[in-house]
Amino acid sequence: MCGIVGYIGKKQAAPVLIGALKRLEYRGYDSAGIAVNSGKKINVVKTKGKLNVLAEKIEGGNAVKGTTAIGHTRWATHGKPSDINAHPHTSGSGRIAVVHNGIIENYIELKDFLIKKGYRFISETDTEVIAHLADFYYKGDLLKMTARLTQTLKGSYALEIISQDKPDEIAAVKKDSPLIIGLGDGENFIASDIPAVLPYTRNVYIIEDYEIALIKREGVALYNTELEHINKEVFYVNWNVSAAEKGGYEHFMIKEIMEEPQAILNTVSQMVGQGMMKIDKIPDKINIVACGSSYNVGVAGKYIIEQIAKIPVEVDTASEYRYRDALLTKNTLVVVISQSGETADTLAALRESKRRGAETLSIVNVIGSTIAREADRVLYTLAGPEISVATTKAYSTQLAAVYMLALSLAKAEGKLSPELEKYYGEELFKLPSLINKILEQKDKIKDLASKYFKAKNVFFIGRGIDYALSLEGALKLKEISYIHSEAYPAGELKHGPISLIEDGTLVVALATQEKLFEKTLNNIKEVKSRGAVVLSIVEEENTQIEECSDDVFYLPKTNKMFTSSLAATILQLFAYYVANLNGNDVDQPRNLAKSVTVE
Ligand code: G6P
Repeated sequence: MCGIVGYIGKKQAAPVLIGALKRLEYRGYDSAGIAVNSGKKINVVKTKGKLNVLAEKIEGGNAVKGTTAIGHTRWATHGKPSDINAHPHTSGSGRIAVVHNGIIENYIELKDFLIKKGYRFISETDTEVIAHLADFYYKGDLLKMTARLTQTLKGSYALEIISQDKPDEIAAVKKDSPLIIGLGDGENFIASDIPAVLPYTRNVYIIEDYEIALIKREGVALYNTELEHINKEVFYVNWNVSAAEKGGYEHFMIKEIMEEPQAILNTVSQMVGQGMMKIDKIPDKINIVACGSSYNVGVAGKYIIEQIAKIPVEVDTASEYRYRDALLTKNTLVVVISQSGETADTLAALRESKRRGAETLSIVNVIGSTIAREADRVLYTLAGPEISVATTKAYSTQLAAVYMLALSLAKAEGKLSPELEKYYGEELFKLPSLINKILEQKDKIKDLASKYFKAKNVFFIGRGIDYALSLEGALKLKEISYIHSEAYPAGELKHGPISLIEDGTLVVALATQEKLFEKTLNNIKEVKSRGAVVLSIVEEENTQIEECSDDVFYLPKTNKMFTSSLAATILQLFAYYVANLNGNDVDQPRNLAKSVTVE
């Protein structure tokens, strides 16, 4: 899950690529590199470290001349982050250069073959086999060579290849990793994702598996693996370029949290007041499958859908689901949730579900992404581009999408009267302004963070949907602050984890559900009496919580299902400020990447 870019045109390519890679850094940032064809030779510069290390090394790109180039930002899979393992990889005394996003599964077998043919390997990567194999196949025709590669390589790849003797061409192809081509005037761009090319063009080709592109200055030609010409529709991107820029905020993460009210409004408006989503076949069971924060939305979805639509829901992490032969009933609906629409495990689970004949629905943020295209139906979260690795506004819009799915199902079953539909619709439309109320209190959350940012262990507890939110609160905190944090159903704490509570352990307790309030209150008292420091999040009238809490954050009142959206924003802000106070790189936390396109 790296980011790849390419440029061919009249401009100097390297500065364009540095800018484009910057917008793809969310995909990985442990090393970066470029290969520029000067017309006479391919110059490769690559280095361990974030993109700015590379940018400094080549003076923002000005130190490497040439108008045809490819570039890469890496998230290591095979071989540690190092100068040598960084892409591009080269072969044939540097005549071929390759960048790759994905994993080559048969690389050991190919490596043995290539070593026998006399190729010498210098890196620990799987990608290096592609460079040597490309050199082995290359007989002066980039297209034919790329087609041969598709016959040999197994695994996933988005690839760009240049050859020293073809300064006016770049070849590209993909399988199971995303690839787009931005179409300019006398220049063309290649990237893993649309934001990378947005400053230059809004016209893009979204490349499908096994489509081969030959990119020249004056145009882009597309072929299938038989090298027959194919026609493709140009996709026009209608987002705002500024959506992928910081706009005066210190970090993308805080900017994206501040965008939540608008993102939720956009998401909800597509359906509420429009008669909801049409459901032709009412499922007898729903399997929700996702990873990371999207999985946490799935856990909330179980509570929401079972409560509103009364349909049984199972939730699985995609890496488990894809191999567990989950039971499908006659009418199981598989709902996959993914911000990026590219997560390898989620995509595999989707494909497996389709293969087994299940109906599929995806809840996806990135328009035109693979999961969005392959699911039978797609419900888009309209959060806009999300750059910070830790998801915030996309998570919040996923929750909103799940509310709408639950309401749509209830309506299709005849369980949602017009009055109830109107009530829920009004409550949903109130959410953006209620979240604004939370955002107005961000300094209060910052104060709480400054009290607790040195915590070593944090427990998040809650019951019912509050437990689902606890999962996200703990994940958000651990991924960006590196503080060990765990989520537990409040009632489960006494079955083990309570032994970890000692003087000063921070417990963040969510008790937003009226029916469960007293129960959670008792659990809070249990940890309090064992020395915990408690930060509680409750609805505004529940002031009795104060007697057993060190701090309380009060939520404005809304329907019990939707309080989660308010709690989510608080937990995101808390994690953001704690990480920031600890001096961490909030937008690019260590070891993570936003789009995980490897298994
Ligand atoms: C990565 C990200 C998480 C994200 C997960 C699933 O691990 O760091 O923030 O929740 O992937 O991504 P998806 O794009 O499928 O929602």
